[in-house]
Amino acid sequence: MRATATFLSITELLDIVFSFVPQDSLRRIVMLVCRKWFFLNRHRVSRQLSWDYKWFAEDATKALTRLPGAGRLIWRCDRYCENTWSKLVKSLNDIEKRDSMPSLTSIWRWSHNAARGDNDSKDSHSSNKYQFRIYSPLQHVELFSNYHLSSESLNLLAFPSTLTTLKIHRYSNTSLDIARILAICPHLEVLHTGSRDLLTLQGAWMSREPAPGPDLLPLRSLVLENVKLSQSWLEGLVSRTPQLKELKLINLTSPSGTTWDWSSLFLHLRSQPFALHKFHYSVHRDIPSEDDLDDMLYALCPNGLERTLWGYNLTPGIVRSLTEQPSVLTTLDVLWHHLMLCQSDGWKEGDHFYSSTSLHRLLCESPALRHLKTLKAPYLIEHMDIHRRVRVVYDSMFPESVEGREAPIFHPGVWVCRNLQVLHLQVHSHGGYDLRGIHDRQVLLGYLSRTLFSYISKVTPQLRDLHIEEPYCCSIFPGGFSFRTHLSEYLFGGLSLLSSLRYLERLRVEFNDISCDISQLSWIYSAGRTWQDKSARRAFMSKWEGQLEHEAQMEATRLQSTPVMPLSGICLDVDLQEDLGSTGLLQEVKTRLEAIDKGECECFPSLQKLSLSRELERSPERSMGSIFPMLPTKKSIWSMFRS
Ligand SMILES: *[C@@H]1O[C@H](CO)[C@@H](O)[C@H](O)[C@H]1NC(C)=O
Ligand SMILES: *[C@@H]1O[C@H](CO)[C@@H](O)[C@H](O)[C@H]1NC(C)=O
Ligand SMILES: *[C@@H]1O[C@H](CO)[C@@H](O)[C@H](O)[C@H]1NC(C)=O
Repeated sequence: MRATATFLSITELLDIVFSFVPQDSLRRIVMLVCRKWFFLNRHRVSRQLSWDYKWFAEDATKALTRLPGAGRLIWRCDRYCENTWSKLVKSLNDIEKRDSMPSLTSIWRWSHNAARGDNDSKDSHSSNKYQFRIYSPLQHVELFSNYHLSSESLNLLAFPSTLTTLKIHRYSNTSLDIARILAICPHLEVLHTGSRDLLTLQGAWMSREPAPGPDLLPLRSLVLENVKLSQSWLEGLVSRTPQLKELKLINLTSPSGTTWDWSSLFLHLRSQPFALHKFHYSVHRDIPSEDDLDDMLYALCPNGLERTLWGYNLTPGIVRSLTEQPSVLTTLDVLWHHLMLCQSDGWKEGDHFYSSTSLHRLLCESPALRHLKTLKAPYLIEHMDIHRRVRVVYDSMFPESVEGREAPIFHPGVWVCRNLQVLHLQVHSHGGYDLRGIHDRQVLLGYLSRTLFSYISKVTPQLRDLHIEEPYCCSIFPGGFSFRTHLSEYLFGGLSLLSSLRYLERLRVEFNDISCDISQLSWIYSAGRTWQDKSARRAFMSKWEGQLEHEAQMEATRLQSTPVMPLSGICLDVDLQEDLGSTGLLQEVKTRLEAIDKGECECFPSLQKLSLSRELERSPERSMGSIFPMLPTKKSIWSMFRS
């Protein structure tokens, strides 16, 4: 080593090199190399503590022992965990009081000394205490809660002054003293808060005049959803946030006696020193004129790469402007209401109707969407059914049309945004299928579910983050049966088709209820590919013979008829076209699963976080462990570094 000294032996150089390495690689690779590399990087990574009420309430106390020194806290409490709030409140209070907590610079100094092998007698005692812990100030807090956390206790939570990001999502009516938060967290840069129901923003500062002068806030991103607040208060706030880049005011309600006025807000925002990159503004029960809508979208940030709008705002004029705008659109966030009603070609919410087709055509035909990296929207699986297999299967089951129930016609297409990295869809099926008989239902659901997973895996191969959810209920027949679950977690549902997404790091699919046995999901992670599970899967697939044969016959018939070209604004390359040929087929799933089990293909090579059942995501092993609690938990080597 001495003879061939490389930069690896020069601590200062190494340190510079490591400063360019992403946190995740530091955590998973670099820090495991040796003691020196561990100490050199410890200050760069932070620990995350996440806790979900679905993971055994008695564990909350234990989890909270890891709060001191965690950089991020994500806490989700819904029902059955009222008593955990008081524990959280206490732990947060303790952090704030703990003055023995080492400062970031002293940790950094110990780390450096330890990495060099120095023995500083003054520090050695304390360095032992923290030697192998990843310690950072709490900077990021996300809380999800419903009514069990009263407004009073919410407004007493002691958020540490080190906080830079705070996100609070409520499911119920509540009020939040936002002024207090801004006062106790002077470094806050990101504040997102909202409620499913209505969140009233209140607090002493609301009524107080904002102090003039240097009393500026470092806020860069402010997102308020379903909140009640007055325009004058908001205007006072943004006058003090010169660095604001993102401002989203979603579905505002005004306190009695006041109203929101777009033109004066517009003038106010325009007179501010900041240049917004992301902006949204909508007021409950207020339908903006097309001109105002245009202003809301383009006037404040004309070159914005990101657009957020309600589904019902996708009017022909807006669709045209999105298509024709000169700048590159990288993010499209189409908002939806959690209680919208399904109609054959779209949704209805109050007086608003919106068609699923305008977004669909935009995605398939507009070259302006080619550079899209992030898409969030409600969407119909029928639009992905390139070969109309679901329809054909349904018609073969029920040759007679059901009286009074018209089956809508869709024109499936291929998205132009082939480089999408983040995709969050609320998926619906409005094909008008009447489902009787358990077996037929399963066959049809299988086709729907496979169509979705197969389409995504082929059309958007660059995905990093995929989140699929289903609506609470979805039926296009008023008063009819409720047809809710389209997606199946069973082998035949085709989740395995997603495993070819080689860059996928986060996968969240909100299956309604997981009732299959473990072998139908354990192909996901390597420890689950035991010979017992593989043979169980083979046994399941051997029962598919009949359906596979039927499928082959239908394919033969289809190939004889004239193909219907999918909608597309780009020339489909031959490979993709051929690939899409098998979308929805059971045979495709069988082939994929066999290849996974034989080790012939990679299966989710980059996956780090998984959630399949409406809970916070965790490592694939732990997430499977919470679905199937009998699973022995195998600790991976780096489990000590993560939550
Ligand atoms: C560090 O201190 C310990 C005891 O305090 C001693 O045994 C060791 O030799 C010292 N190491 C160096 C590099 O000075
Ligand atoms: C929430 O508050 C609003 C207005 O204050 C009220 O109309 C609504 O009924 C409340 N909802 C619940 C569930 O309490
Ligand atoms: C908007 O907020 C109101 C409460 O003020 C709520 O009743 C309504 O459902 C919200 N609408 C949407 C689309 O979220």
